[in-house]
Amino acid sequence: MLEIKNLNKTFFEDNTTFEILKDINISAKKGEFVCILGPSGCGKTILLYIIAGFLEKTSGQVIVDGKIVKDPHPDRMMVFQDYVLFPWKTVLQNVLFAFENNKETSKKEEIANKYLDIVGLSNFKDWYIHKLSGGMQQRVAIARALAVDPKVLLMDEPLSALDSQYRKFLRKKVEQIWNKTKKTIIFVTHSISEAIYLADKIYLMSPRPATIKKVYDLKEFKRPRDTSSKEFVKLKKEIEKEMSLDFKKMLNNFENKSIDIEKKMLDVKL
Ligand SMILES: Nc1ncnc2c1ncn2[C@@H]1O[C@H](COP(=O)(O)OP(=O)(O)OP(=O)(O)O)[C@@H](O)[C@H]1O
Ligand SMILES: [Mg+2]
Repeated sequence: MLEIKNLNKTFFEDNTTFEILKDINISAKKGEFVCILGPSGCGKTILLYIIAGFLEKTSGQVIVDGKIVKDPHPDRMMVFQDYVLFPWKTVLQNVLFAFENNKETSKKEEIANKYLDIVGLSNFKDWYIHKLSGGMQQRVAIARALAVDPKVLLMDEPLSALDSQYRKFLRKKVEQIWNKTKKTIIFVTHSISEAIYLADKIYLMSPRPATIKKVYDLKEFKRPRDTSSKEFVKLKKEIEKEMSLDFKKMLNNFENKSIDIEKKMLDVKL
C-alpha cells in the first residue's frame, strides 16, 4: 500500500545545508499499523508531510497504491498533534467539512455519522468544539480524516497533548478504530510504550540526519497487548537502550559544538 524508497530530505537556507532525512526506506501493507518512533527533532513530522504531499522531497520516492506521490490527495489524510478544528462549528459540522471539496457526495451526513459512531462520539454530534475535552477533539479530527475514506491515515503524535491516563485510554480507542476500519495507519510517536502497544511494525529512527536504525516486526505479538507482560517489558527495555545510546551521542555532539562556539567567542573577544 505504501512504499518509501531511498528518501532524502535536505533544506538549504542562508548558504547552509540541513540534512534531515537520509536514505529512508519504509513499507506498509494494506491494513497494517506502522509506527515511526524517533527522538524529538529527528524529522518525523517532515517525513509525514512528505508522505502527505505537503512538502517536496529532495530525492527518493513515495508510492501509495502503485502511484508516485506528488501532491496532497484525499487518499492520504493527516491527523495533527493539535486538532485543527473549527470551534464555531459543531462536532458533526466539523466532520462534514471533510466533504468541502466534494459537494456531490449525497451520503455525506450518513458517512459522517458512521465515523462519529466508530470514534464513540455519536451522542456529542451537536456539541460545539469548545465544550469537548482534548481527547474528544482529537477523536473528531480522526473521524473527519476517516470520512473521506483515505487509503492511508497519517497520525502525527495524536495523543501527546493528553495526560497519561487519558492517553492510555485513547490508544486503546485508536486500536479499536483501526480494527473497525482496517485502515493502513502510519503513526508517529516518541513514546516507546505507545509504539509497542499499537504497531504491527516499528521503524526506529536515529537523531538527525535521521536514518532508519532498526525495524521491529510485532505481527506475532498477540493483541490487545499487556504492557506488564515479559515480552512487552523486554522489548521496551531493548528500544530504550537503543534510544538512550543515541541520546548520549547527541548530547556529546551538542557539547562539543557548544565548546567550539565558546572558543570562537573567546577568539573574538581577544
Ligand atoms: N525549513 C527548514 N530549514 C531547516 N531546518 C528545518 C526546516 N524545517 C524544519 N527543520 C528542522 O528539521 C528537523 C526535524 O523537524 P520535525 O518537525 O520533523 O521533527 P520531529 O521529529 O517531528 O520532532 P518532534 O518529535 O519534536 O515533533 C528539526 O530539527 C527542524 O528544526
Ligand atoms: Mg513532530
